[in-house]
Amino acid sequence: MDRIRIVGGAKLNGTIPISGAKNAALPLMIAALLTEDTLILDNVPRLADVAQLQRILGNHGVDIMSAGKRSGDHQYQGQTLHISAKNIIDTTAPYELVSKMRASFWVIAPLLARMHEAKVSLPGGCAIGTRPVDLLIMALEKLGATIAIDGGYVVASAPGGLRGAEIEFPKVTVSGTHVALMAATLAKGTTIINNAACEPEITDVADCLIKMGAKISGAGTPRIVIEGVDQLHGARHTVLPDRIEAGTYAMAVAMTGGDVQLSGARPELLQSALDVLTEAGATITVNNEGIRVARNGAGINPVTVTTAPFPGFPTDLQAQLMALMTCAKGVSHITETIFENRFMHVQELARFGARIQLDGETATIDGVAKLRGAPVMATDLRASVSLVIAALAAEGETMVNRIYHLDRGFERLEDKLSACGATIERISG
Ligand code: EPZ
Repeated sequence: MDRIRIVGGAKLNGTIPISGAKNAALPLMIAALLTEDTLILDNVPRLADVAQLQRILGNHGVDIMSAGKRSGDHQYQGQTLHISAKNIIDTTAPYELVSKMRASFWVIAPLLARMHEAKVSLPGGCAIGTRPVDLLIMALEKLGATIAIDGGYVVASAPGGLRGAEIEFPKVTVSGTHVALMAATLAKGTTIINNAACEPEITDVADCLIKMGAKISGAGTPRIVIEGVDQLHGARHTVLPDRIEAGTYAMAVAMTGGDVQLSGARPELLQSALDVLTEAGATITVNNEGIRVARNGAGINPVTVTTAPFPGFPTDLQAQLMALMTCAKGVSHITETIFENRFMHVQELARFGARIQLDGETATIDGVAKLRGAPVMATDLRASVSLVIAALAAEGETMVNRIYHLDRGFERLEDKLSACGATIERISG
């Protein structure tokens, strides 16, 4: 298995291009199942999760063509995928495929909406909590589906098609909102989703569905209204930039010091994180190219942060912020409210000499003057990258083992960081 070797201490200076958002690209690819026509997606990041979803969609009979690079394309330019679900040959998504990536469970919604049946294995994914699918099932049942759990599979059918309904989520759920939104586009009548997730990736998917002929209003607010249509058609859509990738590199610059342009990043997608970084002592400037992050001279100020659904501070940046706070001039408090077990990075950060106490949902971080490199390993995507951030500032060498998770969510991480002066290399095998 590949490892990443980092020698810490260098400041980051230069430009980092921000890729398309993984968490928008995945549901957008899944939305292609809603139509017989071709959906063209631009700016799709080259990630292991995208490749895995291509395999899953292929299993349903979906044809995916990846357009080659044109001369003049930037080396980081995302790929263009032409996705055609003209012939769906199988409405089953098997355990072997779905267990590797939680989002693949979401195929249940378009399959049910268009084919009126689906059999999808219960999902896997990052080990960050129990992550049930009860609210997704509740939403589909509201839309008229009959659902049974059989042998580890969710078996869903709606012989006469789905029917519009009012869905009230008891808690904000991104997956629940994606599933309800996709399913409702082809349901008969009107669907109202209350307490919908407002994450930018939901809005991006809704924008694409609208281009495909769906009638949706209110995406990006807690109340989404969908007027079902008989069928959707092809469209072309560009995946929005990855706010979590942008926030991660911003934390890395705040950690090492230096001055980096995050090109293509959109500040309105991560304002809460930018506010926290400013409080921590980074200088954030918004310009035509994206966001510029710098920290020169001054130390890192401690912060108190609680994760929350958008527009709050994202859970997907919690581990990275914790890595940053390990070197703050004082005591920070970080409370995780979205996932109950998303502190897997704490014990690994301790290997660098970080001082972190866990008490239920809250981590108390007592900043130290210097971290020291160490062999570390992570069990989920964002935890893995928090170790990279710590390593970039640590004295000496760090070996990050089991980097499979990093490849799921960060495109060419080591290239982007080394272009800004980091000593970082991938060791294969
Ligand atoms: C999405 O996961 C993201 N994944 C996650 O990013 C992200 O951390 C999360 O949203 C929160 O922003 C993708 O978009 C592919 P949820 P999702 O449904 O949709 C509970 C990353 O690192 N819940 O909003 O699975 C659930 O357990 C990943 O890129 C139920 O109780 O998250 C959690 O506590 C990790 N029942 C809370 O809701 C359900 O049926 C929010 O989950 C569904 C969810």
